[in-house]
Amino acid sequence: MHKIAVLISGGGSNLQSIIDGINCGSLNCEIKCVISDRAGVYGLERAQQYNIPAYVLERNLYREKLSDEILHILGEDVDLIVLAGFLSILKGEIIERYKNKIVNIHPSLIPSFCGNGMYGIKVHQKVIESGVKVSGCTVHFVDKETDSGPIILQRTVPVYFEDDAAILQKRVLQEEHKALPEAISLILTGCVEVVGKRVKLI
Ligand code: GRF
Repeated sequence: MHKIAVLISGGGSNLQSIIDGINCGSLNCEIKCVISDRAGVYGLERAQQYNIPAYVLERNLYREKLSDEILHILGEDVDLIVLAGFLSILKGEIIERYKNKIVNIHPSLIPSFCGNGMYGIKVHQKVIESGVKVSGCTVHFVDKETDSGPIILQRTVPVYFEDDAAILQKRVLQEEHKALPEAISLILTGCVEVVGKRVKLI
C-alpha cells in the first residue's frame, strides 16, 4: 500500500478530497500523516476525525528549519508528499530527496497568476482584475522555484463578469477537489512520466 503525507495550512478541504477518494476506493493509498504549519486550523480536526496522525510545526517557530523538520518526521518512508493548501515554501534537502515525489495544488492555470505572494484569495482577485475569461487549478511537481515544476494536470472554470473573488474561489476549489485525488492516483499507479519540464500521462 502506498503511503502519502499531506501538508496543510488551513481548512483542509483538499485533504478531505483525498480522504474521500480513499474511502470510496478511487484512491488506493494510506495517509501516513498530516503536517500543518499552523496550529488550530480545521484541517487538523479533519485528520483527528479519521485517526490520521497529525503534527503541528508552527512556521513562525521553525522558520528556516521547517523543511528539515518535515524531512525528519517523514524520513524516506512515504511515496508522495502532497501540499494541499500548504503555504510555506519547502527548501533544501527535502526537494532533492523527494524529487518528483512532491506535488502541489495551485488555484490558477500556471504559469499565470502564480509565484511568490500569489496564494489564497489574492490569486482570484488578480484573475478577475486581469479580465481573463477562463481560470482553474493546476497540480504540479515541486522543484526549487515557486509554482514552477512540471505540470501534471489542470482543470478549467469559466470566469463570469458578475464574479467576485470569493465566488470564483469556490468554483475553482470544486475543481481542485477533483484534480488533486486524480493526480495522486495517476502518480501512484505509475501513469506519470516526467520528461524534462513536461509530464507524459501513460
Ligand atoms: C486552495 O485553494 C489551494 O489551492 C490553495 O489554498 C487553498 C486551500 O484550501 N493553495 P484547503 O485548505 O484545502 O481547504
